[in-house]
Amino acid sequence: MTNLEKKYLRIIDQLNALFQQTRNPQSRMASICALLHHKMEHYFWTGYYMLDENNDLLVSAYQGPIACLKLQKNKGVCWAAINRQKSLLVPDVDVFPGHIACNSLSKSEIVIPILKNNVIVGVLDIDSDKQDAFKEYEIKYLEQINALIYS
Ligand code: SME
Repeated sequence: MTNLEKKYLRIIDQLNALFQQTRNPQSRMASICALLHHKMEHYFWTGYYMLDENNDLLVSAYQGPIACLKLQKNKGVCWAAINRQKSLLVPDVDVFPGHIACNSLSKSEIVIPILKNNVIVGVLDIDSDKQDAFKEYEIKYLEQINALIYS
């Protein structure tokens, strides 16, 4: 197991302990962003985009530079993850058709859907300022982290 994998496991333990305090999903998402963003050196922007009652995808809890508040429907990586109903790893955002650049420093990206009662309600979006910053196995840990939000 790599040091990065061990770090994810420690973060999951820490989140499980913190989440004893409340089941409130907003409080949990804010804590996930803060913990991941400050522990992971390869993260540049860490946050949630959530679907609202009009099916708009709006920014929610996040850490990092100011980002787009609303993502144009069916465009970019976050919407692609929702429409394909799966996590996406994009090693080079410049070659992803329709990628939405909220910040020109973002070079690679990982997007993990959030499920509530088996329905996608939003995504965790993580950007790095370096190309190819994410490993495929990070998806597995981030999916475990997202599963804690409504557990
Ligand atoms: N790049 C995302 C938009 C959100 S920002 O990265 C914070 C996308 O293409 O959906």
